[in-house]
Amino acid sequence: MSEPSLTPQTDLTPLKSNVQNTEEDPVLSFIPLASDIPTDRTEREFTTVDESDLEFLFTREIDFRQETIYFIVIDRFHDGDPNNNVGPNPELYDLTQENWDRYWGGDLQGIIEKLDYLKKLGVTALWLTPLFEQIETLGYGDKAAIHGYWIKDFKRLNARYLGKDENNSLNETQETRNTTFDRLIEELHKRKMKLVLDIVCNHSNPDANGVKGELYDDGVKIADFNDDKNNWYHHYGEVTNWEDEWQVQNCELCGLATFNENNSEYREYIKSAIKQWLDRGVDALRIDTVKHMPIWFWQEFIADIQTHRPDAFVFGEWIYSSPHDHTSLDYANHSGMSLLDFGFCMAIRQALGTWDENGFHLVQDILDLDHLYDSATELITFIDNHDMHRFQSLNSDPDVLRLAVGLLMTSRGIPCLFYGTEQYLHDDTNANDNPYGNNDPYNRPMMDKWDMDTPIYRDIRLLSGLRRLNPAVSMGSQWQKHITPDVYCYTRRYRDSVLFVAMNRGEAITLDAVSTDLPDGEHTDVMSGNKYEVKDGNLYDLLLDSKQIIVISSVGVRVQAKTVVRVQLNGVNTQLGDTVVVTGNCPELGNWDISRAYPLEYVNSNTWFGEIPFEESSGKPIVYKYAMWRNGDSPIREDNTGRRWLLASDGIVKWRDRWSS
Ligand code: NOJ
Ligand code: CA
Repeated sequence: MSEPSLTPQTDLTPLKSNVQNTEEDPVLSFIPLASDIPTDRTEREFTTVDESDLEFLFTREIDFRQETIYFIVIDRFHDGDPNNNVGPNPELYDLTQENWDRYWGGDLQGIIEKLDYLKKLGVTALWLTPLFEQIETLGYGDKAAIHGYWIKDFKRLNARYLGKDENNSLNETQETRNTTFDRLIEELHKRKMKLVLDIVCNHSNPDANGVKGELYDDGVKIADFNDDKNNWYHHYGEVTNWEDEWQVQNCELCGLATFNENNSEYREYIKSAIKQWLDRGVDALRIDTVKHMPIWFWQEFIADIQTHRPDAFVFGEWIYSSPHDHTSLDYANHSGMSLLDFGFCMAIRQALGTWDENGFHLVQDILDLDHLYDSATELITFIDNHDMHRFQSLNSDPDVLRLAVGLLMTSRGIPCLFYGTEQYLHDDTNANDNPYGNNDPYNRPMMDKWDMDTPIYRDIRLLSGLRRLNPAVSMGSQWQKHITPDVYCYTRRYRDSVLFVAMNRGEAITLDAVSTDLPDGEHTDVMSGNKYEVKDGNLYDLLLDSKQIIVISSVGVRVQAKTVVRVQLNGVNTQLGDTVVVTGNCPELGNWDISRAYPLEYVNSNTWFGEIPFEESSGKPIVYKYAMWRNGDSPIREDNTGRRWLLASDGIVKWRDRWSS
C-alpha cells in the first residue's frame, strides 16, 4: 500500500488533548502585564506588578536554554563579610581598592545579600569565577589570583569567599557542611535559581616565588610541577606556534602548569573533585581553556560527569570559537558540551560597539552558519566578559548598550550578562588600546550601585521573563525580515509562538512594510508598551526611532503532559519545505501510522526540535524512529531497526539523536 502523501505541517498537528490551551496557562498572564507598561520609559513599570506574579518564571525544571545567566567576578561584586578580607596572606588584600591586582573583599556572603536584587533583575543562573582555593602568593611578579584561575586545591574553597570560622584551607574538609557556600546554594535554590561552577581542568598555577603547580587533594599535597615524580604535568614549555594543535594541547599557556591528561590518577582526581561539588548542589559547569586539552579527555570527562549528574548543563570556553573555525565547531559538536559563542559576541561588538560599516550584516552572517552547529540554541551568548573590554568601553552610549542587550536576549543562544551591565558599570582605562584585546584588570571594577530603576535593569527583567514565557525565543528558528547595516528586523518561531524584533542603530526611519509572522490584530511592544497593528502578517509604516528596539511576543499553545520528551535531531540535512516527524509503536507517536506521527519543528537545516507529550506510554518501553517528507513524495524513514527507550513515568526527558541513513 502506498504511503499517504501529506502536506507538510498542516496535517500533522498533535492531538489537541495532549496540549494545554493558552488561556489556562498561567505563564501567559505575563503578557497583559507587559502591555500595562507605561510609554514613559522613566516610570517604574514594575511597581504595579505583584512579585508573586513572576514566580512562575522560576522553576528548576526549565530547559537550560530558557535561563538568563549572570557572570560574577566574586571579588568585585559585594563584600558581605569584611572579616575574611585580609585572608591567609595580608599582602594580597588592598583595603583602598586602588591596586587592581589585589583582592578587594567581595565574597559569597555578598552574593547571598544581593540575591533578591539579582532575582528581580530576572537572572536565573549565576556563573561565579572559580571558587577553589588559590595560591596565596603573588604570581607573574605582583598579581593576586583574584580571578580564581590559579588553583591549588580543587577540593577546597578560597578562604576569602567564606566566613572566617569556615576557613577550610586551614582545618575544614570537603565533608564540612553549612558553610557560606552551602548557604549560597540553599538560598539560590530557594529562589529557583541555579549555580554555574567555573572549573579549570587544563592547569593549576604559574610560577610564584619558585613554586609552580603545587597541587593538593583536600589539603594533602599530591603533585608538584618542579618535582613531578608521578608525571602529573606536561613539561614542554610555552606554546610558540598557535597553529600547531599538538602544541596548543600540550604546551603551556602563559606559564601555567599544564596537567598531563594521560595520567589516569590526575583524571580521577579532577573528576572526583567536580563530582563532589555537583553533589553539594552545583547545577551547571563552565569549563576554562577547553581548546588546550584533547577532545578524548573531554568526551570521557563529560560522559563521567553526566552519568553522575545527568541534568548538569556544561559549557566550555574555546577562546574565539566561531563557525568559521572548524576546530572549535568540531569541538562544539563532538565534545559533549556547549560553548561560549565568541563568534556572535564579536559580531555584536563590531556592529554596535565599534560601529563597523557592515553593521547588522555581521550578526546575520554568523547566524546564517548556525546549521554548522548541532545545537546552536544552546550556545552561551554574551557581549563582553572578564577577558575583554566591557561593551561600554567600546561604546559608552547607554542606549546602544540597551540595543546590544536587547539583541543578545532575543536571539538564539543562552544569554550571559557580565556583572554590572545593568548599572552601566565600566572603567575606560586603556580603552583605546586594541578594543578586541584583553582589558584585564580594568574590566573588573567593583560594583558601586544597586539601582533597580535603570532603564537597562528594566529591559533585562522584561526580556528574561520573555525568554521563559515564549519558547520561540529559546527553542525556535530565526528568520531575517529586513536588514541594512543600521536596521535589523527578525522573527523567532516555535510551533505557533512568535517573537518579532526590530532595532535601529541609525537615524529615525520609517519602513513601508515588514513581514512579522505574527497573527493579525493589535499587539503590544514589550519595550515601550506602544500598540502596533499587524495586517496580513505585516507591520506597515513602521517608525523606528534612532536606537529604538521593538519586541512583540505572541505565545501559542504550550506542550504539557505527564512526561514530555524534548527531542533534538541532527544530521537530517533538510531543504525548505521538508517535514520531519517521529513515528513509533505507541499512541503518542501514531502507532507506526506515519500520518499520525509527531511533527518536529525546524530550527535550521541541520537541527529539528520538538516537545512530545506522553501520557499513556509514560513509564513504558517504546520504539521510535524519524522520517522525512520532501516535495510531497513518500516519506523517507531512517535506516535502522528503531530506537528503543524506557520512558520515564513523569517529568522531562531529553533525546539527542542523529539521523541514520
Ligand atoms: C580563560 C579565563 O577566562 C581567563 O580569565 C583565564 O585567565 C584563562 N582562561 C586562564 O585560566
Ligand atoms: Ca569579604
